[in-house]
Amino acid sequence: MRAIVYARYGPPDVLQLKEVEKPIPKDDEVLVEVHAVSINDWDWGLLQGVPLANRLENGLFKPKKKTLGSDIAGRVETLGKNAKRFKPGDEVYGDLSGRWGGFAEYVCARERSLALKPAGMSFIEAAAIPQAAMLAVQGLLDKGQIRRGQKLLINGAGGGVGTFGVQIAKLYGVEVTGVDSSGKLDMLRSIGFDQVIDYTKEDFTKSGPCYDLILDVKTNRSMFAYTRALCPHGVYVTVGGSTVRLLQALLLGPWISMIRKKNIRLVLLKPNKDLPYINELFQAGKLKAVIDGPYKLSEVPAAMQRFGAGEHKGKIVITMEHSSNT
Ligand SMILES: NC(=O)c1ccc[n+]([C@@H]2O[C@H](COP(=O)([O-])OP(=O)(O)OC[C@H]3O[C@@H](n4cnc5c(N)ncnc54)[C@H](OP(=O)(O)O)[C@@H]3O)[C@@H](O)[C@H]2O)c1
Repeated sequence: MRAIVYARYGPPDVLQLKEVEKPIPKDDEVLVEVHAVSINDWDWGLLQGVPLANRLENGLFKPKKKTLGSDIAGRVETLGKNAKRFKPGDEVYGDLSGRWGGFAEYVCARERSLALKPAGMSFIEAAAIPQAAMLAVQGLLDKGQIRRGQKLLINGAGGGVGTFGVQIAKLYGVEVTGVDSSGKLDMLRSIGFDQVIDYTKEDFTKSGPCYDLILDVKTNRSMFAYTRALCPHGVYVTVGGSTVRLLQALLLGPWISMIRKKNIRLVLLKPNKDLPYINELFQAGKLKAVIDGPYKLSEVPAAMQRFGAGEHKGKIVITMEHSSNT
């Protein structure tokens, strides 16, 4: 089968399209014919081998798992001996992070990493969903405890988390402001953001109104700046960003909560947990994926470059050319 592999950490041009052995599922796994896969920030970090946590996960000096890609959608082809949840032909999707291997024509996946894909959801849409939509749901609902009538700001709004996040927040009757670069602001308005801020021109922590809830994808400012932008009893939720800032959030969060009565919370992704909720929203026509692409498997290095440069809008999706593709 064809797969994108890398033998050393580095820029996207270390990625190569190669013929490799088709994998064989272990007892608790299924083999999935991959129809679409999306790019996540985690793939970017594992490609570069930064921060250090990514090397601790995938090899200190060179990558152990040579094919990246976690958010896949495809068709179950064969079952491991103990795999019982799915049958061959089932259309599934999910986040395989920790195992990876999605930038390939076939991948083995544990059954619990997969959910049935609703019939009305395309493989392309399904591949866009898992990590970004889970972070949005877990950030806004579980950690943020979003409530009707609140003012929400999403920092880093134009990628995967922000484009799902605004649609979910709108279901709660919330006013949503999105912060991103100028080229993405029209797209943000078109998917429901009430206000947009160009971060290259304006710092929302220094001017403007206060927010009841901030969902942060970039975490590029100090916790004191974020708390300044929060209304009394407001909640700041980070899903990721600068390691130093995340450490600051972890260490200062409890003190800030105590002294300033504002909350700092971190999301630790629970992969695939809320896919049933997302399926419901999707089937009710309440959620759409914003797709950048799709691109071909051979275009993964260029697509990865696009991701790293922040040129993408929504989710970058790669599709495979199988004869059974829909
Ligand atoms: N908590 C966990 O367990 C966990 C697990 C997996 C991933 N994550 C994290 O989840 C996040 C993924 O979010 P995503 O998929 O939405 O990312 P994304 O697609 O890369 O989107 C990020 C957006 O932020 C914008 N941006 C860049 N610099 C900015 C700045 N200074 N201010 C405001 N916006 C800025 C980018 O656009 P421009 O470049 O054009 O500005 C881009 O549109 C990452 O932080 C990742 O580390 C967390």
